[in-house]
Amino acid sequence: MPYFPAKNLVLLPATAADIPTLVNIYFKSFTTFFRRRAFPDTPYVREWWEKSLRKEIQNDHALFLKVVEPKSTLGIGNNPEGPIIAWAQWKKPKELHKGDGQTLPAWPKGADVLLCEQHFGDLTRKHHELMRERPHWYLELLATDPKHQKRGAGSVLLRHILANADATGHETYLEAPPHAAPIYRKFGFKERDKVDVNVQVDSGTEVYRNWCMVREPGAEQGR
Ligand SMILES: CC(C)(COP(=O)(O)OP(=O)(O)OC[C@H]1O[C@@H](n2cnc3c(N)ncnc32)[C@H](O)[C@@H]1OP(=O)(O)O)[C@@H](O)C(=O)NCCC(=O)NCCS
Repeated sequence: MPYFPAKNLVLLPATAADIPTLVNIYFKSFTTFFRRRAFPDTPYVREWWEKSLRKEIQNDHALFLKVVEPKSTLGIGNNPEGPIIAWAQWKKPKELHKGDGQTLPAWPKGADVLLCEQHFGDLTRKHHELMRERPHWYLELLATDPKHQKRGAGSVLLRHILANADATGHETYLEAPPHAAPIYRKFGFKERDKVDVNVQVDSGTEVYRNWCMVREPGAEQGR
């Protein structure tokens, strides 16, 4: 499938008013067997996501960014704010403290609680083990509406922060499912470790893997 990066995508901070749209894009784009099992698309689970994001967007260390289609290219004047097509949730550079992320949230009704506890607990432990007390950017979530993937929106959300990380000399950390790891490699991330979890599927059990990836400041980007 050809990849035609759109030149005019607009990057903006996301606000609390955007949250229902962000959650909608999350459910459309995160469709792996792990996500379906951990967070099935039900009104309870959607409401939980909205509530969690509303709380997190107020956190001083959180940075929510969105990519919108410029309205002018849709022939509706010069207002830059067209529909949201992608978004990212970042944590600004700070030291990880012992308790950070270790109190897992109360999972929503309908979620696979044991799976969430194990997997998100393991991811947090690995994050601490790999990054220790070094302040770093952390990509918590990146999602592009499937209708708009491969147009460059994900790259816009990554490049902005990576330029910042290069300027300030910070590392960047993320966890990537196997299908996303090659995309992050192009931006200079390297696999440092992995976290596996067994997920119950119709045919038995399947292993779901997340790569723990780190990018050094100034790492070469494959473009
Ligand atoms: C990962 C994701 C955010 C990428 O967003 P996107 O807006 O399509 O990204 P871009 O268009 O900027 O593409 C970035 C690069 O990855 C490549 N790429 C994008 N999707 C790809 C895919 N499914 N397979 C292979 N390469 C892909 C693009 O070709 C581009 O590389 P290039 O510039 O060398 O051609 C998007 O696929 C998504 O939302 N996936 C589901 C959720 C998810 O897995 N998020 C990441 C884990 S946190």
